[in-house]
Amino acid sequence: MKITVINGNTRHGNTWSCMKLFLKELSNYDETEIKEYYLPKDMPYFCIGCYSCFSLGENSCPHHEVVSPIVNSIIEADLIIMTSPVYSLDVSGHLKALLDHLCFLWISHRPIPAMFHKASLAIVTTAGVGLGHTVKTMTNSLSFWGVKRIFTYKAVIPVSSWEQMSEQKRYKMGKKIRKKAGKIARSIKKMDHLHYPMIRKMLFYMMRNMMKSNTWNPFERNYWEKQGWLGKKRPF
Ligand SMILES: Cc1cc2nc3c(=O)[nH]c(=O)nc-3n(C[C@H](O)[C@H](O)[C@H](O)COP(=O)(O)O)c2cc1C
Repeated sequence: MKITVINGNTRHGNTWSCMKLFLKELSNYDETEIKEYYLPKDMPYFCIGCYSCFSLGENSCPHHEVVSPIVNSIIEADLIIMTSPVYSLDVSGHLKALLDHLCFLWISHRPIPAMFHKASLAIVTTAGVGLGHTVKTMTNSLSFWGVKRIFTYKAVIPVSSWEQMSEQKRYKMGKKIRKKAGKIARSIKKMDHLHYPMIRKMLFYMMRNMMKSNTWNPFERNYWEKQGWLGKKRPF
């Protein structure tokens, strides 16, 4: 199982510890090949909104050199793990900066066919509040990239270091993570036999209609045409 991890912060704290527990549990189901990225270390820039990824392609992004290894790794992965602590009731600014760079992957632009056959996991930790909103920011991107199965893990950890957590809480979290990791591993094994979610199918068809009449961005229209999606071919 190929796993790409995008860590929304560099701290080896609560979020990182949850992610490592998931990796350990997943390795009980299959041999794992893991690539990890840490933000902002591996992608330290803000999107400047130049629109060139939309109109000329992602290679024209001024931050292409650091963005493309992450994109390639996402494309190769069976499982994308995205993590973030809650900062100001949302994802870390570092993760948001990467997600902004990846808008060209959205179904409304140029989704990558491989995405429609992948699983993903969004991991969020907080000291108290903001889990729902934060995980939504992450699952919004994953859905709009076309990812087939999206799992989430949310944890309230009212201590600033993992070591301060009670044995009982640690045991409960471990149990939950073990159960979810099993579910993820099983869904990856039977991915080709799982149905593609109706809501994302509808989104695809809406965007297909829009692309058919797209006169404002020939680059994106050509992409859809080349994929065969304006004809009979479908990515799911
Ligand atoms: C800058 C900053 C902003 C935070 N904002 C919130 C917040 O809005 N709500 C909350 O409940 N916790 C907030 N926290 C607490 C963290 O979400 C929480 O401690 C998290 O588990 C830390 O994860 P980490 O150990 O991986 O860094 C914030 C922490 C930091 C450093």
